[in-house]
Amino acid sequence: MQSNQKLINSNKKPIALFQEWFEEAKKSEINDPNAMNLATISSDGKPSSRIVLLKSYDETGFVFYTNSNSKKGKAIQKNVSVALNFHWKTLQRQIRIEGNVSQISSTDADEYYNSRPLGSRIGAWASLQSEELDDRSTLINKVKEFEKKFSDNDVPRPVHWNGYLVTPLLIEFWQDMPFRLHDRLEFRREKDDWVTRKLYP
Ligand SMILES: Cc1cc2nc3c(=O)[nH]c(=O)nc-3n(C[C@H](O)[C@H](O)[C@H](O)COP(=O)(O)O)c2cc1C
Repeated sequence: MQSNQKLINSNKKPIALFQEWFEEAKKSEINDPNAMNLATISSDGKPSSRIVLLKSYDETGFVFYTNSNSKKGKAIQKNVSVALNFHWKTLQRQIRIEGNVSQISSTDADEYYNSRPLGSRIGAWASLQSEELDDRSTLINKVKEFEKKFSDNDVPRPVHWNGYLVTPLLIEFWQDMPFRLHDRLEFRREKDDWVTRKLYP
């Protein structure tokens, strides 16, 4: 296993440090370096988590796309507090992010949706994400139905398919170190700045 055991560069602001680690992850991880765990809280206070893909990020936060009628979509409508977690196994690193989620503009969602392959755009129409599916053939038939409906290749974005921005309030960088004396650096948002502290492993 590749070892990357050097202390975290604490001279950088968190998004710059995220960029540094993410670029390294793109080189080291075989599949989906942009995969992140998204944890949400339901209206009755129950946590739930699943993997989604990070599609863009900048100083304002981290963007993913999903079906607003899904389990996570419904949770987000009731409670904007979410957490993200990246685990890059070969680098022995994790990044934990906590913050508030909000829907991105329809113009931005359209732009990304239109960049997706035709099959994925059709899939967004065909899948009632998180609803009970009686049989896989029902899904396949729905795909065929929408392929026929949008046979001219002009597939508009379904209103229920949206982009979400996680505005970070806390970002923690975690680096594996020998004997489990891991290095942890936390950034907490305070007004317009980030307050930094190290944490015990
Ligand atoms: C590697 C990977 C990437 C995924 N990316 C997404 C994604 O970007 N958006 C999404 O809605 N679901 C994605 N999924 C599927 C989700 O994990 C999940 O099954 C789905 O969104 C339904 O979740 P929910 O019922 O909690 O809403 C991905 C799954 C994996 C394993």
